[in-house]
Amino acid sequence: MKKVGNPNSISRILLFSLAFMLTFSIQIFAQDAAAGKALFNAQCAACHKLDGKMTGPALRGVGDKYEKEWLYKWIRNSADLIKSGDDRANKIFNEYGQSPMTAFPQLSDADIDNIIAYTMEPKVEIAPPGPDTGGNVVVSGGISNEVILGALALVLGMLVVMLFLVNNVLTKIAKANGIEAVAKEKSLPIWKAYAKNQFLVLVTVIFLLLSSAYFAYGWMMQIGVDQGYEPVQPIHYSHRIHAGENGIDCKYCHSSARESKHSGIPSLNVCMNCHKNISEVAETTATEEYSKDFYDKEIQKLYAAVGWDQAEQKYTGKTQPVKWVRIHNLPDLVYFNHAQHVTVAGIECQTCHGPVEEMEIMKQHSPLTMGWCINCHRETDVKLKDNDYYKKIHEELSKKYGVDKLTAAQMGGLECGKCHY
Ligand code: HEC
Ligand code: HEC
Ligand code: HEC
Ligand code: HEC
Ligand code: HEC
Ligand code: HEC
Repeated sequence: MKKVGNPNSISRILLFSLAFMLTFSIQIFAQDAAAGKALFNAQCAACHKLDGKMTGPALRGVGDKYEKEWLYKWIRNSADLIKSGDDRANKIFNEYGQSPMTAFPQLSDADIDNIIAYTMEPKVEIAPPGPDTGGNVVVSGGISNEVILGALALVLGMLVVMLFLVNNVLTKIAKANGIEAVAKEKSLPIWKAYAKNQFLVLVTVIFLLLSSAYFAYGWMMQIGVDQGYEPVQPIHYSHRIHAGENGIDCKYCHSSARESKHSGIPSLNVCMNCHKNISEVAETTATEEYSKDFYDKEIQKLYAAVGWDQAEQKYTGKTQPVKWVRIHNLPDLVYFNHAQHVTVAGIECQTCHGPVEEMEIMKQHSPLTMGWCINCHRETDVKLKDNDYYKKIHEELSKKYGVDKLTAAQMGGLECGKCHY
């Protein structure tokens, strides 16, 4: 009797490789538009929307309106282009009451290409989830993960069905030709197979032990320390949505982190730069835990606080201050300076504050104990490059210690007086 290879295994390999290729290509495609979205939200969203006018024109499809070179020039410095007498530049400038657009000399060609790629994405229309919400909801913004996942699932589903059919036909042909496909071994129920596999059982036990130890340790370390402190704020403000999904730069809101001791919480006027125009969140922003309705009500709280009349599009003058609950708080006897760490040492906010761009609710990530400060000062090298301020002192000290690199500790970062008044 002739045998043929198990048709199942072939189809499985085919399926996997197709799925792999598909994910891969979608990722490449989505990547630059995603980077563009982040840039757009950080740099342009204060004045532009994709659809609809704001301070500046709607930008959807702007790549069709102008050629690349023109856009590079315009975005890097629109004032120069206007001065050069360019017709189209002057036309749009006059159309918008000669209000100037910020210059962005720091954006590379690739950055601008990404932003344009984002503006060229088609508008996504999503049908409402329930039958009771009449009418189509128009969602601006890029291709969301859910859309991609949905499409992927659909394609995969179709593939599975096709493979199943092909498989059937093949078996039929094989039967008609007198060939018998290899019969499957009768498989054990999953839990039995699992119990039989001692290695798997061992791994599971170790995993359980380790994770419980980890949580117990974490719990004990919290005693007396405010790590993880996560109070309820007067407005549910999500860093995940702002700094994460929309890629707004931390310094857009915490602008004083660079040059002063304190980082500060932004005033509500900063919020209104965007929220005059964003009165509700996209359907796709809602999560299982927080509905669109919930988020929209939170934006209404912001409007109530600054006294913004949405219908009239003007301020009523009636305001109620928002009292944000302070989360990070060192005792008065400690001196800590943000500018020193962020600007001089070049430390990322996330090193101390954790993955803020993933936090739906802000919480204290680091213990803020003396040991925590000191450990880092022992371990972290001071940034020597491009730092005139320290150049001389560095040269002297590195000779003294006979090393190229200097830790913050060697610079005096362990002296009591540096951190204590
Ligand atoms: C401070 C507000 C402001 C910011 C920030 C801003 N723009 Fe503009 N933009 C304008 C205004 C206003 C106009 C209309 C022309 C004018 O008055 O200068 C404009 C016009 C444009 C145009 C021409 C559109 C058309 O339809 O003719 C493009 C393209 C553009 N902006 C891209 C960008 C990009 C990309 C960014 C972010 C990197 C950005 N803008 C950031 C205010 C701004
Ligand atoms: C759109 C404005 C905005 C942006 C962008 C933003 N934040 Fe915030 N941040 C706030 C507001 C408002 C609060 C106060 C409410 C809260 O604690 O959630 C806050 C609170 C914080 C706190 C806690 C302050 C305290 O009370 O101790 C930290 C830390 C923080 N932000 C870090 C960051 C970092 C890091 C980023 C960038 C990844 C960032 N923020 C981006 C607005 C912003
Ligand atoms: C640079 C633009 C920008 C700034 C500044 C900004 N927001 Fe937002 N905000 C957005 C965008 C974009 C969304 C999400 C819209 C969506 O998902 O469709 C949003 C959503 C929200 C939401 C609903 C989701 C959530 O986080 O609960 C609230 C509430 C909110 N913002 C409050 C604030 C407050 C308070 C400030 C000032 C501290 C602020 N925003 C500053 C752009 C901004
Ligand atoms: C070296 C660690 C470190 C880095 C880096 C750092 N922070 Fe902080 N941050 C702290 C500590 C410690 C506090 C508590 C300060 C206090 O109580 O005086 C704090 C407090 C804050 C607060 C509360 C308000 C205030 O100023 O006390 C905000 C907001 C904040 N940080 C945002 C940021 C942002 C945004 C960045 C990045 C630009 C950043 N931090 C980088 C350690 C750090
Ligand atoms: C993630 C690492 C890190 C953490 C955490 C950290 N620091 Fe620092 N700190 C540095 C570095 C690096 C420098 C050196 C900066 C420079 O001068 O180039 C520094 C410098 C300093 C200085 C100036 C020292 C001098 O020689 O002038 C003070 C004061 C200071 N830190 C206080 C603190 C306090 C207080 C804390 C805890 C609340 C803290 N730091 C937590 C990395 C850290
Ligand atoms: C890198 C910064 C740093 C240096 C250097 C430093 N401390 Fe501290 N110290 C802190 C911080 C931050 C706290 C607050 C810890 C907390 O709230 O749990 C603290 C707390 C303390 C406390 C406890 C105060 C209380 O009320 O509980 C004492 C005592 C103290 N430090 C003494 C010293 C002495 C002595 C030195 C020099 C050998 C020193 N510290 C050097 C950052 C520092």
